[in-house]
Amino acid sequence: MIETDINQPKTNPKQDTLITIQNLQVHFPIFQGILVQKIVGAIKAVDGLSFEIKRGETLSLVGESGCGKSTTGRAILQLIRPTVGKVYFEDTDLTRLEAEELRGMRRRMQMIFQDPYASLNPRMTVGKIIAEPLIIHNLSTPKIHDRVEELLELVGLNPQFINRYPHEFSGGQRQRIGIARALAVNPDFIVCDEPIASLDVSIQAQVINLMKSLQKKLGLTYLFIAHDLSVVRHISKRIAVMYLGKIVELADRVSLYQNPLHPYTQALLSAIPIPDPELEAKRERIILKDDIPSPINPPKGCRFNTRCPLVVDRCHQEEPEFREVSSEHFVACHLVEDSQQMNSNLV
Ligand SMILES: Nc1ncnc2c1ncn2[C@@H]1O[C@H](COP(=O)(O)OP(=O)(O)O)[C@@H](O)[C@H]1O
Ligand SMILES: [Mg+2]
Repeated sequence: MIETDINQPKTNPKQDTLITIQNLQVHFPIFQGILVQKIVGAIKAVDGLSFEIKRGETLSLVGESGCGKSTTGRAILQLIRPTVGKVYFEDTDLTRLEAEELRGMRRRMQMIFQDPYASLNPRMTVGKIIAEPLIIHNLSTPKIHDRVEELLELVGLNPQFINRYPHEFSGGQRQRIGIARALAVNPDFIVCDEPIASLDVSIQAQVINLMKSLQKKLGLTYLFIAHDLSVVRHISKRIAVMYLGKIVELADRVSLYQNPLHPYTQALLSAIPIPDPELEAKRERIILKDDIPSPINPPKGCRFNTRCPLVVDRCHQEEPEFREVSSEHFVACHLVEDSQQMNSNLV
């Protein structure tokens, strides 16, 4: 987990760990020139992540739009090949696998997307959409129709809908179809990329509850991506907060909500309304100045220094180490020793 570990390849991860990520980097080259193209720089979308996802847990990855969450999810599944770093699924290093070998592993790792409108082929019936991964993975049997009906039922849809088209369903139902499709091949691990961000608030809780019950029933492991901390509160076991291509804090849910240590996490938390009216009246929102800087030239030292309300000189000079400050609570901030000052900003 800690940065100092990254040079020691871990070939035999612990039993309870399903996914191990070591120094993951994804840099998209920037080309210039018309006839002869030259690489003139890189978008450092993901810039050195190390963490583990334990079997059966939900680890949430939270941060503002553009901070590299989707790229991280896609790089774990090898839909984008990482520039640097290792991704182990159990003890298999996915980054070393050729396309053919990856195909076998892909059955065990699936993805659910943000936009159920864009991710389902409008010309295919629901039955075909859900059966497609079974066919791709050569798992189709004469009983495929039964399996699709079973999947529809599993996600709370009427099996009689099997011959309908995506446009005949509501947003929430479409997301259920996306979930059924991901589950068709019996995966162990699912990257859920903002799966409820485009749904009505009233539907969001239903889809979260469905995902939780499926996790329990099928023993699934989730990487759950979201852009704010309110959504992940009820689903996460642990939460990683990401800022400009790096993880700035990682902790179990209770520690993160009750004792957020990084000023960025504190700002994200301060944006969430509190249901208790008395506490809500006292809530002090931390407004961050400026926008998230460009991942082409991230600020020197701590990347958060241009927006941090507590910034000191050292933050401009030295990059803070991502380190464990209490049991299983990791943070990258120079000021964390001074925990009293940090805690005074708690919401
Ligand atoms: N295929 C790509 N080519 C070039 N840049 C990309 C590509 N995909 C993402 N990016 C850039 O990488 C950064 C992170 O993007 P993304 O992972 O989509 O963030 P998030 O999911 O947190 O909103 C952004 O600056 C984005 O513009
Ligand atoms: Mg995204």
